This record gives sequence, structure tokens and C-alpha cells, in this order.
Amino acid sequence: MPRTALIAGNWKMNGLAGDLGFFGEVARAAADSPADILVCPPATLLALAAKTCSGTAISVGGQDCHARESGAHTGDISAVMLRDAGADYVILGHSERRADHGESDAIVRSKAEAALAAGLIPIICVGETQAERESGQAETVVARQLAGSLPENPQKMELVIAYEPVWAIGTGLTASEADVAEIHAAIRKRLPEPLTTRILYGGSVKPANAESLLSLADVDGALVGGASLKASDFTSIIGAVGR
Ligand code: PGA
Repeated sequence: MPRTALIAGNWKMNGLAGDLGFFGEVARAAADSPADILVCPPATLLALAAKTCSGTAISVGGQDCHARESGAHTGDISAVMLRDAGADYVILGHSERRADHGESDAIVRSKAEAALAAGLIPIICVGETQAERESGQAETVVARQLAGSLPENPQKMELVIAYEPVWAIGTGLTASEADVAEIHAAIRKRLPEPLTTRILYGGSVKPANAESLLSLADVDGALVGGASLKASDFTSIIGAVGR
């Protein structure tokens, strides 16, 4: 079964109301693309972005959610709230959350379960550090993160995996095509629904390298950070799908 490519933008802690013109610029490329197009703005812009994107081929998503539906968790946002604001997806277990907020695999799993229960598609991020790659541990680390972060009973539920080597995020470095192909194949073998689950690559994806990365067999799309902040860059990455 062919998998529809997914090009996802992760704005991280960037973006103000004045930046919503981005969506108008990207909407045409999204309409013409065979891929699913997603933008994950900061939570403050989610509802506005969802409204701006209604009637376009752009979906919006959150960058994190809490594992509980509601309650005394000051500053947190639940999956149900993201859904209510118009999100279709949520990024979970990004390496910046794992590092900045001490998110363990078990926390990521409980968030993923909450996301699925709320009707969101979780994008579960995994990836090794530079030291782990240099010591030959990349595949072991990713396998361990997957085993600990995937929901307990994900069968028949749609989720997305993003392989993002930590050392490639925001650095301008990308993993070699051979390394990406190897890890993506290893991830696919460990998925409960290997044929239908999309595996994205992330880490310094830009217009210049998108086409070659997206042409790899087990790469079903990209999670794009820095290059998703500029409409022209994001549009040209969208244009690299299926070229
Ligand atoms: P980058 O970020 O494209 O800026 O490297 C990717 C990500 O962190 O999702």
C-alpha cells in the first residue's frame, strides 16, 4: 500500500500573529502537492493558524501535549485542547523536549496514548546523539526509544515516526543517505503497522537536500524546523516530493 508523503513544519518557539501570511504563500504549493502538508506553530497561534488554513490543504498540529485530559497542570496543554483548537497532529518526544524537559520514553508513550484518544495523529520523534552515533549505538538507541515510546496498543491507530538524529537538528549537518536508509529500514521492521506507518526524516532538511532525502525508499516525508519558517524554503521542500 503506498504511503502518502507528509511534509511537516515545526516552528518551535517562533512565530507571531503577524507571521500568518506564511499560510497564504504555502497554500498553493500544498494544493498542488501529492503530499500531506502540516505546520506545527507555537500553541499561541494554533487556533488562528487553523482558522487561516481552513479550506486549504494545510493541516496544523501541536508541538507537545500533556498526558492528562485536564486538571491542575499549570502551563500545560492537553491533546483534547489541541484538537479543540483545530489540530490534527501533535509532535511528541522531540529531542528538545526530551533534553529541556526531561521527557522519558514512558512520558512520550503516555502522551502518545492521550493524543490517539483525543483523535490526534502523534508524530513520535526518535534519534541518537553524536556520541551515541560515534560509539556505534545509533540503531540500538532508536530501537530502545521506539520500544519505550510507542503506545501500548497502536494497532489500527494512525501514528507517524520521525527519525531525527540529535546532532543534525539545527546544525546544518544531515545524516548520510546510507545512514538514513539504514535507520529507517530498522525502524520499519519494529513498527506494529510497518506498511502503513509513515517514517519522516528530520534534521537540517532544506531545499538543497530535500529531493535526495525524500527519494530514499523508507523515507515517507520530512520534519522540517528552520526551513519551515520561510515560506519560499518550505514551498520548495514541498515541491521536492515525488519529483
Ligand atoms: P531543523 O529542525 O530542520 O532546524 O534541523 C528539525 C526539527 O527539530 O524538527
